[in-house]
Amino acid sequence: MKILVVGSGGREHAIIWKLAQSESVSTIYSLPGNAGCGRLAQRIPGNVMNICGVADFAEKEHIDLTVVGPESPLIAGLADELERRGLRVFGPNKEAAQLEGSKVFAKQLMLQEGIPTASCEVFDDPDRASEFVRFAAGKRDTPIVVKADGEAAGKGVVVANNTDEALQAIDDIMRKKIFGKSGDRILIEEYLDGPEATFMCFVEGEQFLPMVPSQDHKRVYDGDQGPNTGGMGCYAPVPVVSPEVREQIVQNIVRPTLRALAKRGIHYKGVLYVGLALTSDGPKVVEFNCRFGDPEAQVVLPLMEGDLAELCLAISEGRMIENKVTWSDKKAVCVVMASGGYPGSYEKGKPIWGIEDAESTGALVFQAGTEIQDGKLVTSGGRVLGVTALGDSFQEAIDRAYQAVSKIHFDGAHYRRDIAQRALGAA
Ligand code: AMP
Ligand code: GLY
Repeated sequence: MKILVVGSGGREHAIIWKLAQSESVSTIYSLPGNAGCGRLAQRIPGNVMNICGVADFAEKEHIDLTVVGPESPLIAGLADELERRGLRVFGPNKEAAQLEGSKVFAKQLMLQEGIPTASCEVFDDPDRASEFVRFAAGKRDTPIVVKADGEAAGKGVVVANNTDEALQAIDDIMRKKIFGKSGDRILIEEYLDGPEATFMCFVEGEQFLPMVPSQDHKRVYDGDQGPNTGGMGCYAPVPVVSPEVREQIVQNIVRPTLRALAKRGIHYKGVLYVGLALTSDGPKVVEFNCRFGDPEAQVVLPLMEGDLAELCLAISEGRMIENKVTWSDKKAVCVVMASGGYPGSYEKGKPIWGIEDAESTGALVFQAGTEIQDGKLVTSGGRVLGVTALGDSFQEAIDRAYQAVSKIHFDGAHYRRDIAQRALGAA
């Protein structure tokens, strides 16, 4: 089988790494990929948002299956275009991808179906939003969450600690349009208190196969300080997601969400990512995404025992083959190494040393912002790579991951030192 993987992050390197283990896979193409993807796949230059260009390539090369990593091409209709041409794709169509593309769509669906989530109000007018904050939300003794409606590249959310910060966020998002057009409409949400967890499932219509739960570390500095990032590290499984909590997530969230989509004539195919807050009232939805999380994929896929290519192909053909997948009971930890300055501005083109040394410890190094320049591996993005290690305990996985990280060097490299500390003691 010839597979095309669309995207260029650590998530896509992890997907390609897992697909490459499948006996049925003959060739993998990576569009546009990164230097790490290029070790396992043939790189194809291109822009993931050029929907027709990507589909033209898949058609011309007789690709058997296209696996789409990031949300933007899915929200823009890449899966629809491939299917229109009779090609198989793993990833939801445009209608189903609204679950991530429109926070208002997702919220309305949850409220109509009684799926547990933060209560919220929607505003198109900044004056009315400000009035609501001054007279209602601001009176509560908890933070106020202000979200731009559209896709805002994983940003677009401000957790305001008081009325003034919330008013400032409304001004920034709706009047100054710091997140662009996605700020035409905002949601003001109740703050959900409790640990976060990511629960991803392989989905085919109303059938689903849960993956091991994982937990991201979104803030840039140790102790969850500093601004939000795309994710600085991750671990799986998550001790606080007990079998009871898992059952609540499946019964109260995943099942009714897929049923609600089906009821509206929407057939979901691909990965459903549920971002949760584990509150004292039980798990509640913070957000839905329509793809694998990044870095979550970098801890979850190494724990998957089974053939990812066969599973994605089956789902793309409207079949589900859950009995062929099991999950390791090992612990996985991924530490993201980022460029100096990230998530703010940073320099690119810094030479990277030591990846082979890190790999020789048994760790997996998933590359994200990397390129080959004049024959040398250099940095080319904010998140440069993710170092994943497995262990029989979280302590072992943490020690192995950081031992491998210590072998890798590039100018300005920074990473959190406390990834997975929260899992210790609880496991
Ligand atoms: P999102 O883009 O919706 O994932 O939001 C980014 C981050 O903001 C989440 O991972 C949470 O840490 C935080 N967040 C979003 N919505 C809420 C909420 N209602 N209550 C508490 N934290 C939230
Ligand atoms: N790590 C968060 C995300 O992929 O959305």
